[in-house]
Amino acid sequence: MKRDIISVLDMKDDFEQILANAAKMKKELKEHKKGQKPQEPLKGKVLGMVFEKPSLRTRISFEVGMGQLGGKALYIGPDEVSIGKRESVSDVANVLSRYVSCIMYRAFSNQNMRELAKHASVPVVNGLDDIEHPCQCAADLLTVLEKKKKLAGLQMVYVGDGNNVCNSLLLGCALTGMNMRVATPKDHRPNADILAKAQEIAAKKNCKIEVLSNPFQAVEGADVIYTDTWVSMGQESEKAEREKLFLPYQVNDKLAEKANKDYIFLHCLPAHRGLEVSAEVIDGPHSAVFDEAENRMHAQKAILVAVLSH
Ligand code: CP
Ligand code: NVA
Repeated sequence: MKRDIISVLDMKDDFEQILANAAKMKKELKEHKKGQKPQEPLKGKVLGMVFEKPSLRTRISFEVGMGQLGGKALYIGPDEVSIGKRESVSDVANVLSRYVSCIMYRAFSNQNMRELAKHASVPVVNGLDDIEHPCQCAADLLTVLEKKKKLAGLQMVYVGDGNNVCNSLLLGCALTGMNMRVATPKDHRPNADILAKAQEIAAKKNCKIEVLSNPFQAVEGADVIYTDTWVSMGQESEKAEREKLFLPYQVNDKLAEKANKDYIFLHCLPAHRGLEVSAEVIDGPHSAVFDEAENRMHAQKAILVAVLSH
């Protein structure tokens, strides 16, 4: 049976193994640069990348990563397929499955993501939808692991909009035994089903998942502070209203004072300095955002190997 990665939950049985493989491949890549022979476990495989929204990191990291694994990646942009408009999601899934070994899909809706996966005979990897961003979460936790040398028992704090990135992080933290506190305005809390699932997993893993309104209370004792844009792709019409509502949730030095002295700052990027994060924090000594962006590639290589050798 094929293996899709639509949610972080689709990695529930081997998430830490995927992170370990990513770290191993990252190390091997650096050694290869010093003259070692590269391994090409995906030689002859083709990844079709369907995008309904723009991207820098997802597109380039999948394309370069697939090349490093010996395979190829094809970019299929919104104007080429017009998925669900020019052609039904199921027909696109059936046709692409005849050409490519795996589909990476960046979608507006999780419903279309699941529909594509249902009709594709090849694995589908979620490159972000309105509910989750699982590849981002794998890269985020790989970064935390590199910087802190462990995950279980650490305190993750997410401040801002309870969006796709936050939802995936809740599941990722629960699976790895990390405590997570989220501070959001009350109408912008994370997805209720995902929160309940994360809390259920956390109870078994001996860690705690909490959602608060006060960012200062949330950041107390943080090992990691995470934020994301207040205006996700597709929410542009709400920009003015959101920027006003979320202003008390800006991650700046005053807020970060409440964190542990050696906290790290993460952001999936693209970032908006002066809005969700101040320049002093994102460009300061605690920031690991570019390691995090690099880790998209290493984490996704491990994910691709996991689904394509299934
Ligand atoms: N973080 C992230 O997914 O970036 P892109 O939108 O540029 O792919
Ligand atoms: N929450 C953001 C993430 C961008 C990578 C969005 O969905 O636009």
